[in-house]
This record gives sequence, structure tokens and C-alpha cells, in this order.
Amino acid sequence: MLAKFIASIANHPIPMASKTTSLSWLLLLSLAASTLLIGHSASQNERKAYIVYMGNRRDEISTSSLYSNMLQEVIGSHIGPESLLYSYKRSFHGFVVELTEQEAQKMAAMDGVVSVFPNKQNELHTTRSWDFIGFPKQVDRRTIESNIIIGVLDSGIWPEADSFSDKGFGPPPRKWKGSCKGLTNFTCNNKIIGAKYYRSDGKFEEGDIKSPRDSEGHGTHVASTAAGNIVSKASLEGFRLGTARGGVPSARIAMYKVCWLNGCFDADILAAFDDAIADGVDIISISIGGYPKNYFTDPIAIGAFHAMRNGILTSTSAGNSGPGPATILNFSPWSLSVAASTIDRKFSTEVRLGNNKIYEGTSVNTFNLKNDMYPIIYSGDAPNTTSEFNSRYCQKYSLDQNLVKGKIVLCDALSDGSGPFLAGAVGAVMQGRNPNSQTMAFPLPASYLSFENGGKIRMYLNSTRSPTATILRSNESKDTLAPYIAPFSSRGPNPAAHNILKPDLAAPGVNILAAWSPISPISGVESDKRSNSYNIISGTSMACPHATAVAAYIKSFHPTWSPASIRSALMTTADPMSAEKNPDAEFAYGAGNINPLKAPNPGLIYDIDALDYIKFLCAQGYNTKLLQHVTGDKSSCSKETDEKSLDLNYPSFALSTPLSNSISHVFNRTVTNVGSSTSTYKAIVTSPHGLSIKVNPSILSFTSLKQKLSFALTIEGTIEKQIVSASLIWDDGTFQVRSPIVVYGDF
Ligand SMILES: *[C@@H]1O[C@H](CO)[C@@H](O)[C@H](O)[C@H]1NC(C)=O
Ligand SMILES: *[C@@H]1O[C@H](CO)[C@@H](O)[C@H](O)[C@H]1NC(C)=O
Ligand SMILES: *[C@@H]1O[C@H](CO)[C@@H](O)[C@H](O)[C@H]1NC(C)=O
Ligand SMILES: *[C@@H]1O[C@H](CO)[C@@H](O)[C@H](O)[C@H]1NC(C)=O
Ligand SMILES: *[C@@H]1O[C@H](CO)[C@@H](O)[C@H](O)[C@H]1NC(C)=O
Repeated sequence: MLAKFIASIANHPIPMASKTTSLSWLLLLSLAASTLLIGHSASQNERKAYIVYMGNRRDEISTSSLYSNMLQEVIGSHIGPESLLYSYKRSFHGFVVELTEQEAQKMAAMDGVVSVFPNKQNELHTTRSWDFIGFPKQVDRRTIESNIIIGVLDSGIWPEADSFSDKGFGPPPRKWKGSCKGLTNFTCNNKIIGAKYYRSDGKFEEGDIKSPRDSEGHGTHVASTAAGNIVSKASLEGFRLGTARGGVPSARIAMYKVCWLNGCFDADILAAFDDAIADGVDIISISIGGYPKNYFTDPIAIGAFHAMRNGILTSTSAGNSGPGPATILNFSPWSLSVAASTIDRKFSTEVRLGNNKIYEGTSVNTFNLKNDMYPIIYSGDAPNTTSEFNSRYCQKYSLDQNLVKGKIVLCDALSDGSGPFLAGAVGAVMQGRNPNSQTMAFPLPASYLSFENGGKIRMYLNSTRSPTATILRSNESKDTLAPYIAPFSSRGPNPAAHNILKPDLAAPGVNILAAWSPISPISGVESDKRSNSYNIISGTSMACPHATAVAAYIKSFHPTWSPASIRSALMTTADPMSAEKNPDAEFAYGAGNINPLKAPNPGLIYDIDALDYIKFLCAQGYNTKLLQHVTGDKSSCSKETDEKSLDLNYPSFALSTPLSNSISHVFNRTVTNVGSSTSTYKAIVTSPHGLSIKVNPSILSFTSLKQKLSFALTIEGTIEKQIVSASLIWDDGTFQVRSPIVVYGDF
């Protein structure tokens, strides 16, 4: 439902209050001057769980008595601490409690409260990949890699998987404060050094396992992509046979299970951030997204903000809502937002018809109907008349079992295959717009075709009395077009801050082989009995842990670098991607495709500290009082709104403007030398047609490491098309420090 909100930002031309800030975003802020309360329910008196977020508190008073007093005041009767579903206290403050909407509003007006928001549901953003991006097994690694702890917020982990064996690992690093206590049928080891689970409402469903054990597969996949051991002969039923490995196989994993069969809740995500930060993780990886309206009602943005203040980078998935504009779901300026690129492996699945015609679609089809021909029927001709769904789309229970049993069903859309599967079909042929990027496993033999080829099959069905078909096992082949951005990957521009480019960069997220929960069907469809310790899945969920791992790899070389420095290194060393193959250009891939080998040696970094983000928030319209609650310090916004503070020291440049208007805009940046102590960098700028881009000074001469030098980048001219791409490279002959520049028409 909230998806529509973002979509409406994207679809309506936004009147520009200022060149840099979206008016809609500011309007949301001005609804409540100092406190944000978002979300309205139909029933006024019904109590539901709300998160009362209170930021960092300076005072040392007992939070439990403070919270009881607040509740007493709001609800009027005494409420004991037992009615709090959570009390956040390790890394920031706040609590979760059931309130009516009116009580929530009263609570939001109380002193010290930053925001009050309902406990919404979020979604998971559902190995050769490392070799493809040039990160072979044998690379220069630091022994301290084994001191790096990656905190993963996801659906749990399968601790017995080979990827998580602790053979050869010493005890957890001394800084580790997390634990793995009090769990049933789950033991940590020296690889998985922490594991916890969070479920504030206690409403477990059948199939949920009350421990950090992963019944879904997603968390196991993500954790092993980031930091799984090297396991040879991994495959999904013979597909992608080879070595599975995480990007930093020596790193440790701490799993915070926040996702269950019916989703991932805000209150649980915040509780996990509260713990992960205090436990001492080095990087947080979260492949989950909701539909944020505001930084301080979004648990991922809140968590990532406190993580950043503690020196921890949060790596997030951009979202799977592409390819429309402004569909990005995780875009807070203090986190890393990762888009999904393809690798060079693709799967094609042939559908052969009785007339000997062959059509190629995609899917990970482990089944093989061989040359046995089966009757084929159009789904629209086989409706289950008691079902409310139109059978054309093959949804669950929409088909008549008597008509499809033993047949292949031609469907008018892409689905998970559960409809034909549960109705007893032997196979399914799906159709849609983007068959080349959406490779997935189905519970029955299936292939996903273009509408064009689907239409030809329909024509064959119409023209033959007894049409027949078969579906073959998939063939793996090389995708020579790779890398490009998957259509599902969420796109920019950033709906909240128009001059901060999001996503930040891309990493492999299509057809990724990694560990899986053997109790979770590989197609994700219940009653699909195929079990496997590995699975091939796609999503920005898979891209995120690739970036997490490279961030950890950087950290093993530069343990003291700030989250923004690590992000800067990732972005400025990324491989540029093709705007021809990706018409959304920077809004699809940000700075480009991640380059792990280059990432630890960026030459220069663009750093941003916590204070810069506070000034940025002031400029975005958040007020001093709110920010003091968030930070627990004396941060204050200067009297006049400081437009310049919106221009963070980001390693990319984005400027939005009405088409054909004349532009004159200056970006100021400061770079820190982390390359050679004495070095001279020259600015190399590509200036596309219609724009003049100048850098002043155009030469930066460094005489020591850690030295900072500033420059101004001026863009003048006009643009006549929606997206115009350019770039700035600081080049000293050894390091090429590349920043994307994008000038775009208001969306
Ligand atoms: C413990 O987990 C294993 C999976 O490794 C499962 O097969 C077993 O049934 C579980 N035992 C209990 C008591 O839940
Ligand atoms: C039609 O769907 C209902 C559930 O919606 C199911 O119980 C029934 O078996 C289906 N009928 C046929 C003929 O498939
Ligand atoms: C197939 O026949 C149906 C009904 O007769 C018709 O609606 C449909 O357009 C035909 N499709 C093709 C591709 O010929
Ligand atoms: C795919 O594999 C099948 C065997 O399963 C083979 O007959 C077919 O020719 C192959 N197709 C392509 C395009 O490689
Ligand atoms: C940006 O750089 C220009 C040129 O160096 C300088 O005049 C201006 O004061 C800078 N602005 C800020 C806010 O630093």
C-alpha cells in the first residue's frame, strides 16, 4: 500500500520548493513540527503495536521508570514493564507498546519522543559471481579479516551448512559482546559467533522456527554470500556446479533473525540494530525494505543512523521494485544502497511444441520432461469457477484440477507456479515483459517466455485440435551482454534528497548460487519436495551481501576508516557501466559495478562525519529539538536554512533541473589523500553536449597522507533530455578516483 506513495512521488511532477529538496518530503515533515507521527487506521479504539522512538538520551535516569511514567500519562492507568514488547536501550532508546491511534498521537507529542509509528511489515529483497567481478579465491588478504564481524539482519541461518563450519577458526575477536545464549537446537561456533531472534508480537506461524534457524533460506543465502567458507562442488541439482564462497571467507557472522514466514517487522528490525551496534559488529548487512516516508519512521534508516554514529557502515539492498523511476526503497544518505547487476551466466529453458517449433524462455528448471509430449491447455480455458481469481494468470487455486491435471498450462503472466503445481499440471509456460532477467526455480517444469513467443504458442493452441508440448531441463550458457542492471532492481532518483545519487553502486544479484536451508523448498512453494543445500536466486538481496563483503574487505586493510570513507572507496573504484545497455544510467547503477580488488586502494576518499549528516538533516527541515533527541547531544541547526549543507561530501554528483532551463550550480567537495604521500592529481572531466563542467582547482597536489584538499565543481548549461551523464576522475597516474555526475530533468 505504501508502495503507491513512492510511486506517486515518482509519477507526479513535483513542484520544486528548492532545487534540491522534494516538496513532498518536506510536507511530510511539516505535518508535525517536532515529532513525526505517521499512519492512520480505520478503527480509532483498536490497540496495535507502535514504536516510540526516542533517539539517544543524555540523562542516566532509569528508562524503565521513564517509560512507565509516559505510559501512565498517556493511557491513564498503571502499565507495568511487562506490557512493553521491547525496550531499546543498548544503542538508542525507545520502546514498543500497544496503543490506540489517539494514544499514539498523545505519545508523539510528549517531550523526548522523536517519532511514533506503527509496527509495519517489511519484505525481503529476494558463485561464480565473485570471479565474474574479478575477485578470485587467491587475493591479498589481511589476517585481521578474521577479526571482522558481519552482522546480518535476515531470516536466520542454517548453522550446519558447510559454508559456516568453523574449521580453522580461532575464538571470537575479543571486542565481541554478542551472544548465542538460551537457544534451543541451535549452536553457534567460531564462524557464527552470534545468533538471536526477534518477534515482538509472538505470533509465530506454522513453519516458523523459534530460534535463529532459517526455515526460509534467504538469510542463509545472504550470510554465505558475504562470509561463507570456500566449499567445492556446490550446485543446485547440477546447475552452476563449482565452488561456493563468500567474499570474506575468514570473517565472522552474527545473525539477527528478524524475518519470519509472514515478513519482517519494524519493531524487530530496530531491536536487532540496537543489539548489533552494541554487540560490536563491524558492518551491518540488511537485504530488507519497506516503503519509508521519513528517515525517523523507517527502522532501517534509524538503525543505520545510529550504526553510522558508532562507526559501522550499513549495507542495504536498493529494492526490487524497478524499473520505474524513484522506486528505490533504501536511500538514507548514511547507508550504502546497492543495485543488482547480472553476471555472465544465464539459464534458458526450451519449450517444444507438437508442431516441432521450439521457443526459448528462462527459468532454473531442474526437471526434464524430455521428448515426452503432453497435452497443453490455455489457462483461461481452465477456470476454477469457485475461485475469485481469473485463471488466465495461473494464481493459486484459480485453475480447475480436472481440466489441467496431466497437462502443460499456458499462463498469461509470471507467477510462482503454485497454481498449476497444486492443480496437478505437469508443467507451466509463463509469459511476461522481461523474461531475460527473471530467472527463478518453479515447483514444476516451467519456462518463462516473452509475450511474443507466448502469443505464438497461443496461436498454435488455437489452430490445433490436440496441441502438445514438452519442457526441457534448462541449459546454462554465457550471457555475453553482462553486466547490466536487472530490470527488477529499484531505480533512482532519490525521492528524499534530489542531489544525492542513489543507488550508490551495483553488485551481482542475478542467478547467485549460495547456501540454502535444506528444509526450505528451492522454489519457495510449499509442498515442492525438492530440498537442497544450495540454491540459485536473484534480487537486490543478493547484491547487498556482495557489497557488504567488499566493505569488510576494505575494513580489513583500513580498520579505522569511517563508514563514509568505506563507501567512498567502493564507489570511486567501481567499474563504469554502460548507459546504452542501461537507459536509466546512474539511476540504475550509481557509480557502477563493484570492483573488490581495487576497492581497498582508492587513492582519495570523500569523507562525511556525523556532524555533516546532522547539518544535512537541518537543511532538509528537521529541527534542532528533534535532532537533539536523536543524537542525545547539543547538535543544533543554524537559524537560516543552509542550502549548502544539503550538498554532502558525497563521492557522486546529482543535479535536478527543469529541462531547457539554464543551470549554474556549484558543488563543493573535500578529498582526503590515502594513496601516495606525495602525489599530484589532475581532474579529468567529461562534459556532455549542452553542459560545461569545470573543476577548480583542476590540480590537487598532496604532500602528505591524510591531507585534505577542497575543490569546486561547477555545472553550467542546459539539458534537453531526462538524464545526462558525465564523470569526474582525479588521476595521479596510479589512482583514478572516479565520481559519476548526473544532471536530470525533474521526475
Ligand atoms: C533440530 O534441528 C534439526 C535440523 O538440523 C531438526 O532435524 C530437528 O528435528 C530439530 N530438533 C528439534 C528437537 O527441534
Ligand atoms: C477450486 O478452488 C477451491 C479453493 O478455492 C478448491 O477447494 C477446489 O478444489 C478447486 N476446484 C477444482 C475443480 O480445482
Ligand atoms: C485464440 O482464440 C481465442 C478465442 O477463440 C481468441 O480470443 C484469441 O485472440 C486467439 N489467440 C490467438 C493468438 O490467435
Ligand atoms: C539445450 O539442452 C538440450 C538437452 O537438454 C539440447 O537438446 C538443446 O539443443 C540445448 N539447446 C541449446 C540452445 O543449447
Ligand atoms: C565552495 O567553493 C567555492 C569556490 O572555491 C567557494 O567560493 C565557496 O565559498 C564554497 N562554498 C562552501 C559552502 O564551502
